[in-house]
Amino acid sequence: MWGAATAAYQIEGYNTHSDLWDWEVKYEQRSGAAANSYVLFDEDAELVKRLGMGVYRFSIEWARLEPRNNEWNAEAIEHYHEVLRSLRSRNIRPMVTLHHFTNPKWVYEIDPSPWENGEVVREFEEYVRLAAREYGSEVDMWIPFNEPNVYSFGAYGIGRFPPGQVGLLNPTERLLPVMQNMVEAHVQAYRMLHEVDTADADGDGVAAWVGVGQAVSAIEPADPDSAADRAAVDRYARFYVWLFPDAMARGNFDSDLRFDEAIERPDWAGSLDFLGLQYYSRLKVRAQEGLLDPLNLLPCASEGALTQIFGVLGCPAPDLPKTDMGWEIYPEGFYDVVRQAWERYALPVVVTENGIADQTGEKRAPFIVQHLAQLHRAIRDGADVRGYMHWSLLDNYEWGSFRPRFGLYSVDYENGFARELTAGGAVYGEIVGANGISSDLLNRFGSDDFR
Ligand code: BGC
Repeated sequence: MWGAATAAYQIEGYNTHSDLWDWEVKYEQRSGAAANSYVLFDEDAELVKRLGMGVYRFSIEWARLEPRNNEWNAEAIEHYHEVLRSLRSRNIRPMVTLHHFTNPKWVYEIDPSPWENGEVVREFEEYVRLAAREYGSEVDMWIPFNEPNVYSFGAYGIGRFPPGQVGLLNPTERLLPVMQNMVEAHVQAYRMLHEVDTADADGDGVAAWVGVGQAVSAIEPADPDSAADRAAVDRYARFYVWLFPDAMARGNFDSDLRFDEAIERPDWAGSLDFLGLQYYSRLKVRAQEGLLDPLNLLPCASEGALTQIFGVLGCPAPDLPKTDMGWEIYPEGFYDVVRQAWERYALPVVVTENGIADQTGEKRAPFIVQHLAQLHRAIRDGADVRGYMHWSLLDNYEWGSFRPRFGLYSVDYENGFARELTAGGAVYGEIVGANGISSDLLNRFGSDDFR
């Protein structure tokens, strides 16, 4: 499957009932009309088709369907039927995310720290039930949660998303409860989707195929010669990368972060039909006694909120070329993570996001070719990879700013949100059309190892 991904809040515009809407005043820019996709969705579907992609991964905005607790909005429900019709009439299969970082505002009326205390789990289940009933006959591929690790860190760890809690320094007490509630909500969603969505929309014999969109980084030791750093890599990977899929696939939930192999929640096991991996960059880890107890380590991203918090403590300087986000470009790490995921779970893998912020438009084609070459290597070495969704179909609201340009198509925010194919988008279309990377593309954009 070849496709592209988006998220409702980042493209639709005016998601005024979502919790981020008021929170955005803290950011550099507000989302406003975003990419105007609530209006332009049919044009977006045409953009997917124009590149020959067979899948579009997008999200439904919970706050639109349920702007007030237990009040369902008929117009919004119908809107997503229209989105689905516009895709299906073009033979594009939808992959639907149900939670992509935002919640309805009213969840904080029930509890000011909803995912920490778990009040929201039952509410989420009602929303999933409605989505499964409404859209089950049109949708087979479901992702209840986008990046539960990034979301729980962002909202309850470093205070970037509402409710803005800063619990990362005390992960066992402040973050683990959030993670536990999110796994619980995922498991319930998994069961609900299988129970309610019994209609096989695309005729492949599978009515509901449910996974998680997990953010993964290549994690490496700050000092490769240090045994302590290498051990810290293992602890951080188990915490940041594998904790959610370990719990969902095997029922292994390390609530004390001591990482034994005990199956604490056997009732959770078997709740993933596929594992969605979202890969962007690499992260280095240094052993550091007393920090993030009991992990005892310092996580070093090449840029972003983690760097702002921990950079002062002495992270190594990034040494690879960087994207406009300041993230190191590291295609080899993509191979490593896909291999690790496959070896760990033997579950079908879908790359549910991979992409680059690139203002100039020059770096996207090599980024895509080099990452897909690594993905191909992982497949050749045995990984069961079922699809690749590029992030993103369009330029969009990057959680606080429109400056990062992630789109296969650029968006001209000043001129009627006009979409224009980027050079990287054209190259992606060529790869999709050929179902592979030609030697010409490898010669032009590949790394030396693949030419
Ligand atoms: C998220 C997207 C985001 C992208 C680039 C992923 O973490 O799912 O919403 O735009 O990365 O930062």
